[in-house]
Amino acid sequence: MTKETILLAGVIGQPITQSKSPALHGHWLKRYGINGHYIPMDVSSVNLPHVLNNLPKMGFRGVNITLPHKESVLDIADVISDRAALIGAANTLTFQSDGKLHADNTDGIGFISNLKQEAPGWDPKAGPALVLGAGGASRAIVAALLHEKVPEIILTNRTRARADALKAHFGGKIKVVDWTQAASHLEEATTLINTTALGMVGKEELKFNLDALTPKTLVTDIVYNPLITPFLARAQERGCFTVDGLGMLLHQAVPGFERWFGRAPEVDEDLRRAVLG
Ligand code: ATR
Repeated sequence: MTKETILLAGVIGQPITQSKSPALHGHWLKRYGINGHYIPMDVSSVNLPHVLNNLPKMGFRGVNITLPHKESVLDIADVISDRAALIGAANTLTFQSDGKLHADNTDGIGFISNLKQEAPGWDPKAGPALVLGAGGASRAIVAALLHEKVPEIILTNRTRARADALKAHFGGKIKVVDWTQAASHLEEATTLINTTALGMVGKEELKFNLDALTPKTLVTDIVYNPLITPFLARAQERGCFTVDGLGMLLHQAVPGFERWFGRAPEVDEDLRRAVLG
């Protein structure tokens, strides 16, 4: 008789109750009939090293990491993927069979996979991308766009110094422009991305003048609550094709699920419905 294994994974953050990841992985576990569980865990920074050291002893295969631990977890990891090192943060940890803790960042590929699925005609090489914001989400998206060989990234941030720091880190293909001047670059951009949390329920709107936006620009937002943010709604009014941010969340989960539970999961309408509840 073979010993049956219950596969375990989860998500660590603080707070954690708002995380959509348990619904997302739970949906896939059920759909594929996998004998496993995905558990939300509220863990403080002080306890994080101890928890990560002990989870493999309880049979965990790996965990997602969310705020506020995405950067600090790199100090605990034994092996860091190139893209996690480049971004300076990790969201997907795997407990390897040799006992090492592997840290990866799948936010960037989540972003790209979402655009490729939802806008099959989108060509990252077709022209410059105008990126709004220079926080943690922006770092992952900028790294992914460069990996996809965008010819240029026009980067703008309310606090210019943060955009300059990103340019210093990622190099020559980035052109930093002042927040107040950025709208004049809309016409050149073939992709426009909001990487800030502005427009999310409970936050203020993203006040960015879209008068110069033309229908050739694909517009996307990392905010997914609401699905159609005021920013995306204004872009649609200007005739642009838009992609909401939910798919980025769904696609960033794919590599972890495959590593921990042994099956490449699909991102489709059923999953979107399950996560939106
Ligand atoms: P995250 O890791 O989610 O990207 P973050 O690192 O705090 O979060 O970054 C938030 C981004 O939203 C930043 O680009 C921030 O601009 P600043 O660097 O100037 O703070 C941007 N942001 C937040 N509030 C904003 C506002 N009212 N107007 C314009 N940009 C704003």
